Amino acid sequence: MFNIAVFASGRGSNFKSVFENTSKEKIRICALVSDIKDCGAVEFAIQNEIPVFLVSSKNQTGFLNYQELILQLKKIPVDLIVLAGFLKMIPGFFIDEFEEKIINIHPALLPDFGGKGMYGINVHKAVFESAAKVSGATVHFVDKIYDHGKIIAQKSVDITDLNSPEEIAERVLKIEHELLPFVVEEFADQKIIINN
Ligand code: GAR
Repeated sequence: MFNIAVFASGRGSNFKSVFENTSKEKIRICALVSDIKDCGAVEFAIQNEIPVFLVSSKNQTGFLNYQELILQLKKIPVDLIVLAGFLKMIPGFFIDEFEEKIINIHPALLPDFGGKGMYGINVHKAVFESAAKVSGATVHFVDKIYDHGKIIAQKSVDITDLNSPEEIAERVLKIEHELLPFVVEEFADQKIIINN
């Protein structure tokens, strides 16, 4: 079994897509990690009996800190961490523990429209204002700089007929829901080869 932990902060549609569109014989979602107690992702995990871990860098009752989370995830042990709309910056020491085992989905074609503050609708607003003809989704490794790690896969989509950031978001989300499960499957099949 290929064990994954999904991290999410919001409605969790990418989490749901990974759950529904990856092979249950090969891939097990062992944990849903969130920084938000009452969000769609947590609700979906509970409904599907996926263990939930809440994490915070502050001392918050009911939340693990990142050191405690490392211990929990190593105990499983987790093969891949998938950030699917997890909007907090992850501490450097956590990233060191899971080197090249953390991936993120970003709702634009990196390296454009990435970096601090570029999440959710902000990304689509920037794309809309730039008058770009295409947008898309990127899955990349996570390093210590926002949206900066090596790119694993991208998928693009024509947006010339769209008239608002919200319309772009909707079209890109459909692409995200295909791209992320595809990449997770590729990892489980050991098809992602890292060379320098
Ligand atoms: C997704 O569009 C994801 O790409 C984005 O947040 C949304 C989460 O939606 N992530 C970022 O912007 C990270 N920089 P979801 O909760 O429905 O999966």
